Amino acid sequence: MAVGIFDSGLGGLTVLRAIERRLPDLPLVYYGDNAHAPYGVRDADDIYQLTCKGVARLFDEGCDLVILACNTASAAALRRMQEEWVPADKRVLGVFVPLIEALTERKWGDRSPPREVAVKHVALFATPATVASRAFQRELAFRAIGVDVEAQPCGGVVDAIEMGDMILAEALVRSHVESLLRRMPNPDAAVLGCTHYPIVEDVFRDALGPDVRVFSQPTIVAESLADYLHRHPGLIGTGRERRFLTTGEPRAVSNKATLFMRRPVPFEQA
Ligand code: DGL
Repeated sequence: MAVGIFDSGLGGLTVLRAIERRLPDLPLVYYGDNAHAPYGVRDADDIYQLTCKGVARLFDEGCDLVILACNTASAAALRRMQEEWVPADKRVLGVFVPLIEALTERKWGDRSPPREVAVKHVALFATPATVASRAFQRELAFRAIGVDVEAQPCGGVVDAIEMGDMILAEALVRSHVESLLRRMPNPDAAVLGCTHYPIVEDVFRDALGPDVRVFSQPTIVAESLADYLHRHPGLIGTGRERRFLTTGEPRAVSNKATLFMRRPVPFEQA
């Protein structure tokens, strides 16, 4: 048994890396649906079908707990999966709620009424599907009042990263940040609401300037998983297995992943 990590492509590796640092002995199986990335331009039903397929594959690998290390799937498919599809003996968790808990200074499971929090003006950067779902604003409204959110759909960034075109990714990030800053000139926090974006986090930070606090998911999610496994030790597998599955072309995906992770990441066909 291992913990499964699902993403549409390479972005979830940023979460996997943080989990490896926080929980070095945890057995992990990664699934990247690179053949169908990006998800951010697909409709909710399509994202639901593809996500269920990938998560089912991780269940087949013996994963009783799967992390959707993909905001787009978390925003567009997770609730429906939990209501209609996830078997009673399995768990599927998203990356959205831990991020919002961090932003609103809450501990896991704190269901107290919404209250004022330190951040007032939040810039959200995410895929078009995540922005369209308004899941971020909905989850935030359960926990905080008086927070103004300006969302920027960052079309093209995931595509560029998946293609390994970092020059294009950087140019697109700068133009998306500029476009958001025209509508919200002084955000006090920025949320990188896509697991691909930590790969270009330096560009976001540079374009946003030093006064904006950037919330990036990998360490937040790793911390929240450590806490979850502490409360559910039965879900920690045995061994120290690491496997990487892709629906794409394994050699090409391994090459790009190796570049991002700065170590060999040998993908197998899913
Ligand atoms: N890493 C996914 C996310 O967090 C990218 C989605 C996509 O494939 O567009 O949203």
